[in-house]
Amino acid sequence: MIFESRTLLGLDVGSHSAKMVDLAKVRGGYELKALGLGMLPAECIVDKDIMDSETVMDTIKSLRENLKIRPRGTATAISGHSVIVKKAELPIMTEAELEQTLMIEAEQYIPFDINDVYLDSFILGESAERSDMMDILLVASKKEMVDDYASAIRNAGLKPMVMDVDVFALETMYEVNYPDAPESLIALVDIGASMININIIKECIPVFARDISMGGRQLTERIQREFGVSYERAENIKTGADIVGIDLERVNYIFKMASETYVQEIRRTLDFFLSTMVNENIERIYLSGGSARLPGLTSMLEKQTEIPVEVINPFNNITWDDKVFDSEYIAYIAPQMAVAIGLALRKAEDKW
Ligand SMILES: Nc1ncnc2c1ncn2[C@@H]1O[C@H](COP(=O)(O)OP(=O)(O)OP(=O)(O)O)[C@@H](O)[C@H]1O
Ligand SMILES: [Mg+2]
Repeated sequence: MIFESRTLLGLDVGSHSAKMVDLAKVRGGYELKALGLGMLPAECIVDKDIMDSETVMDTIKSLRENLKIRPRGTATAISGHSVIVKKAELPIMTEAELEQTLMIEAEQYIPFDINDVYLDSFILGESAERSDMMDILLVASKKEMVDDYASAIRNAGLKPMVMDVDVFALETMYEVNYPDAPESLIALVDIGASMININIIKECIPVFARDISMGGRQLTERIQREFGVSYERAENIKTGADIVGIDLERVNYIFKMASETYVQEIRRTLDFFLSTMVNENIERIYLSGGSARLPGLTSMLEKQTEIPVEVINPFNNITWDDKVFDSEYIAYIAPQMAVAIGLALRKAEDKW
């Protein structure tokens, strides 16, 4: 075949940084073509809302130029308070019929004015309880937020073609990288700067998704207050890049407190999910996001949930040329790139 199916450019605009990934489909898998991360200043994106669209646009544009990416189709994602993902039960119908009735059916499930959202749905299959009903996954995203992200991307010289949701991008990334995983029920947990995204997947189908408004940002603010330093310095203290004159015992104590808070929230969400299921066990938790690097978090989560925890490797099934990319850097940046890789794996013709 001369024309191989081309993937989209993956762009994850988080509140801490924008991540860009370009992959090429090659025989037997994918190859990394470009990868970059551009930090955003403190108040640029707050609670996932773009406060400073100029800076977001400039950051995406510089990433694109530095990576020598020509204008092209881009997949991006949103999450948080402007997106609702809900399971619903409807009478069995075709996709075309569902499209016709979606607005009316969705109204009872969505806490927003139905005219203010973009709606989407995925048929999951026949309902477990009744054979004349089917389960669908309903996704409603506030138009205002989708349009804000789309216009920043457009103004940066790219073409927004897929608007995904962080939790689903994580799932795409997982499916490509762990096709032979023996577990049937797993949780993907991404801990970023302002959000913890959780997606529970059973036999390749998302059965529960939730975003918790919490993340590394609060920890950065705590370090700022504790040591009287700027946002940028606090970020460098976190990563260990600039610790001159800093009492590391205090930093470690703050890290431990933050880990405890995340673990408590994740545990509460998983317990809630399990309380709705009969005889089910989550067999593994895969962590991603920059805050997954918090020292001791993995073992604390493992101990308190009694579930094996692993930091996910979004490059598990992706190759790269080690003359172009430094393998040590790839290993370091991997957890932070999970959503961007899931997006870079999307194809233009995918439904979203
Ligand atoms: N070594 C580290 N130790 C602790 N925290 C870290 C480390 N490295 C990065 N972080 C934190 O990870 C967070 C950034 O992660 P990520 O890039 O996944 O967030 P984001 O996608 O921009 O945010 P969000 O999706 O929540 O809007 C920041 O809060 C950053 O301080
Ligand atoms: Mg993120």
